[in-house]
Amino acid sequence: MKGVILAGGLGSRLLPLTKITNKHLLPVYNKPMIFYPIRALINAGIRDILLVTGGNNAGDFLRLLGNGRDFDLKHMDYTYQDGEGGIADALKLAEYFAAGEKICVILGDNIIEKNFLNAVEDFKKQEKGAKIILKEVPDPERFGVPVFEGDKVLRIEEKPENPKSGYAVTGIYMFDNSVFDIAKKLKPSARGELEITDVNNVFIDRGDMTWDILEGWWTDAGTFESLHRAGKLVAKTGANKLG
Ligand code: DAU
Repeated sequence: MKGVILAGGLGSRLLPLTKITNKHLLPVYNKPMIFYPIRALINAGIRDILLVTGGNNAGDFLRLLGNGRDFDLKHMDYTYQDGEGGIADALKLAEYFAAGEKICVILGDNIIEKNFLNAVEDFKKQEKGAKIILKEVPDPERFGVPVFEGDKVLRIEEKPENPKSGYAVTGIYMFDNSVFDIAKKLKPSARGELEITDVNNVFIDRGDMTWDILEGWWTDAGTFESLHRAGKLVAKTGANKLG
């Protein structure tokens, strides 16, 4: 399976830190943020990776990562998102790279303690559709939140005022190639973005969505509070542990 890291957007919630650099190049404890999702994909057995970035500092990713030698990769692919059209807008840029294969997508500001190799192995066997990875959190209203009936996910609500479960949809998604047709048909949300939650809800409506629970801690790092928490968690226990 191929991997896609979405590291576009303007990081406006972290201004002024993001005035002169890209959010995903900021430090999380002792490494640039982007190192964590790259390692997470590699630990899940994915070595064919596309990085989608944007903004004024895209060239710095090349200087930092080159062809991925620090990660023992033979090669890295890059592409550029104009503006801040949303996660699903950034994902559209991966169609050429995916070339008909299934993909595993990770958001560039998501950091995990352990790994999701089992979910990837399960999705390889899944005939079609998508898979999301959930994590119980104290503040689900900040995220996409699954609505359950028994153990079936009925739909996902994006940043609901009154969350109907205590789970967040993490920024780790697996899709078959139909994701690109879905993304092309999306309309911008109230915040003017093409939402990954709208993509996921199409797969749910088709009955093609499976889900898994992530082991170990998970955090995003896109706000001052979560960036600070991410640094503390990494310092305390390390990230992307195998096994
Ligand atoms: O972290 C998980 C959450 O990520 C999910 O629970 C939500 O359902 C999902 O919408 C998303 O929520 P956020 O509002 O926190 O996403 P944010 O706008 O912070 O973007 C997360 C990453 O996605 C960002 O680090 C880079 C990438 N991105 C985002 C945008 C808006 C892009 O590549 N391009 C974009 O235009």
